[in-house]
Amino acid sequence: MRAPVSDLPVILDGVSVQAGATTILDHLSLTLSAGAPTLVIGPNGAGKSTLLRVCMGLIAPTEGRVTWGGRADTDPARRAFVFQRPVMLRRTAAANIAYGLTHAGYPREKRAVRAAELLERVGLSGLAARSARRLSGGEQQRLALARALARDPDLLLLDEPTASLDPAATRSVEDIIDSAAKSGIKVVMASHDLGQVRRLAGDVVFMLRGTVCEHARAEDFLRNPTTREAAAFVRGDLVV
Ligand SMILES: Nc1ncnc2c1ncn2[C@@H]1O[C@H](COP(=O)(O)OP(=O)(O)O)[C@@H](O)[C@H]1O
Ligand SMILES: [Mg+2]
Repeated sequence: MRAPVSDLPVILDGVSVQAGATTILDHLSLTLSAGAPTLVIGPNGAGKSTLLRVCMGLIAPTEGRVTWGGRADTDPARRAFVFQRPVMLRRTAAANIAYGLTHAGYPREKRAVRAAELLERVGLSGLAARSARRLSGGEQQRLALARALARDPDLLLLDEPTASLDPAATRSVEDIIDSAAKSGIKVVMASHDLGQVRRLAGDVVFMLRGTVCEHARAEDFLRNPTTREAAAFVRGDLVV
């Protein structure tokens, strides 16, 4: 049973993150609400990964404030994070999911059935007994998604999950993300890929130098970016 509280909206209010003398996020304010996926784009070093980590509660702001559903507590039980390169336990695919279920506090006697459902959901039923580290990159990323979905999250944070995948593997991963979003999970995903914005995004957060340069509905952003930098990015020019 889900508790009747939610992690949404996630509100960042004047959030800065410093690492030594470097400002990684610079007084960034952003509201992430329920609905279609939010894609976070921008050049390398813009702060996308750091923003996602702050949204997960993995990094505390040095300035400003983050709230999840109006609460500042950082119990991450309703959030899940998938890294660009998934970290797999040296066990079978099914055991990797069971591990996620254990962490989510899932009752032991129900874990096997739930693990099978999750593997089915990401199209890996046939590979349940395969060693996770011997799966292809795309299969590992699907397994990482299954493990994240095991937490039954409100909020699914994805850091460039298709960056090292070929088009077919990218499509499988995008299909899983799309169906997770349609099931009511809020997806927030860093991406490099404008095609992915077209395919998946409800809204776009365009980051530059540690702050939000533009936040708009995806179709407006693609058709009518309002800043010079965003327009250059949409044209495919190099933005640094
Ligand atoms: N722990 C850290 N210490 C110092 N600099 C960091 C640290 N983490 C990230 N950075 C720097 O902060 C900037 C933003 O990083 P990141 O959030 O990874 O951006 P993106 O994901 O958009 O490429 C980069 O210039 C990166 O080198
Ligand atoms: Mg990054």
